[in-house]
Amino acid sequence: MEGKSISKAVIKRLPRYYRYLGELIEEGVERISSNELSEKMRVTASQIRQDLNNFGGFGQQGYGYNVPYLYDEIGKILGLDKTYHMIIIGAGNLGQALANYVKFEKRGFKIVGIFDVNPVLKGISIRGNEIRMMDELPEFLKEQNVDIATLTLPKNNAAETADLLVKNGIRAIWNFAHLDLDVPEDVIVENVHLSESLMRLSYNLNCYENEHPKK
Ligand code: NAI
Repeated sequence: MEGKSISKAVIKRLPRYYRYLGELIEEGVERISSNELSEKMRVTASQIRQDLNNFGGFGQQGYGYNVPYLYDEIGKILGLDKTYHMIIIGAGNLGQALANYVKFEKRGFKIVGIFDVNPVLKGISIRGNEIRMMDELPEFLKEQNVDIATLTLPKNNAAETADLLVKNGIRAIWNFAHLDLDVPEDVIVENVHLSESLMRLSYNLNCYENEHPKK
């Protein structure tokens, strides 16, 4: 499987498969057919078969998918069999909310540092991590093995901060600031925009309302 390129569209759908399979494991389900999974996930069975065939056919005729095996394999593809050290830059509302969320750690994303520029926040502990000031960041990155930096700071300061991170060896940025970052090609950026998700919701709500006008 290594080296085989999987389309971006499939990769985008994998976390959802992973989540459903995780729930099935919690329910004690050991195997599932593509039809059953299709009903649960509300995608066509043929889409499921096509997507999962990318990985060398986990499904067996008449048996269905082995849930724990498929869960592990998709986890490996998503790199979830490793632990990542993550820092958060910007310890405001969003940064603190992310730092307080326990489940990231369960998935292997361990928060090892939280940084801000506001001295009022200095030393406040969030789930065992004391907020540090930004001037400590370069030294921190030299000493610690950090894989991912999360940007939850105002967009005006995001570009400069991304440059600083890259200069200090960061290769993956989880970017919540509303700015498309201009970083070298070998730096991976994943942008998260909750407002875009809300706009899709608004679009779908409007479509529905146009088709079903209120009486
Ligand atoms: P906030 O104002 O509560 O927190 C921002 C924090 O960043 C503050 O503590 C501030 O002191 C700190 N900060 C400012 N400049 C900094 C720098 N150069 N280095 C380190 N820290 C710095 O704001 P909130 O609500 O937490 O939002 C944070 C950012 O995330 C904003 O840019 C906002 O627009 C964005 N956001 C994005 C969302 C998304 O879905 N992408 C959703 C919500 C907010």
